[in-house]
Amino acid sequence: MGADVEGGEGYFGERVAAGYDADSAAMFGPAVVGPAVELLAELAGDGAALEFAIGTGRIALPLAERGVRVVGIDNSEAMLDRLRAKRGAERVEAMAGDMATTRVDGEFSLVYLVFNTIFNLVTQDAQVACFENAAAHLRSGGRFVIEARVPELQRLPLGQTVLPWARRSRWDVLLRLRHRHATAERPALHLCRRSGPAEPH
Ligand SMILES: C[S@@+](CC[C@H](N)C(=O)[O-])C[C@H]1O[C@@H](n2cnc3c(N)ncnc32)[C@H](O)[C@@H]1O
Repeated sequence: MGADVEGGEGYFGERVAAGYDADSAAMFGPAVVGPAVELLAELAGDGAALEFAIGTGRIALPLAERGVRVVGIDNSEAMLDRLRAKRGAERVEAMAGDMATTRVDGEFSLVYLVFNTIFNLVTQDAQVACFENAAAHLRSGGRFVIEARVPELQRLPLGQTVLPWARRSRWDVLLRLRHRHATAERPALHLCRRSGPAEPH
């Protein structure tokens, strides 16, 4: 599953992986990463965190540095190679796999999927499978956090269900957005919780 635009590893193959950190420099800045890591560390509590689509470790590395045990899945070996080459990578267990189907050992207090990456699963079935996969990894009371942009309803004409978001060339549509039920134009943090005993937060 995933956006298999280039074949093989999908969109995030060698070419994109080589420039990913530089091209996403603003997302690597402390003003973006700091609060995200703080929140995720708080939500992980005394448990371990599993990142779906860990990429080059933008969030996983600082989260692990903060003392949280972090495991990650990504379906691009090219992105994982960049992660493994970074300082502190030995603190993160990163493996190749599909976030909709790959199971890893262990139980997690937190599964998270950031930077709009849920949209790389372009069918409803794949997105549902991803939620099921998150739930399968969570301990009772654990959380699944998704960070996703909410597309502008006004830019989606009635009857249209697909809006190309970033188009770099004719064949290179980065993300296709299929959400007609959005209510606001702003980044959104969706927090889903596996059913379990109620805890104050
Ligand atoms: C925008 S990057 C985000 C990387 C990282 N989470 C971050 O915040 O920088 C999207 C990542 O999702 C990965 N990806 C896309 N589809 C995937 C899938 N079905 N399963 C696992 N990883 C996937 C890509 O390889 C890429 O590393």
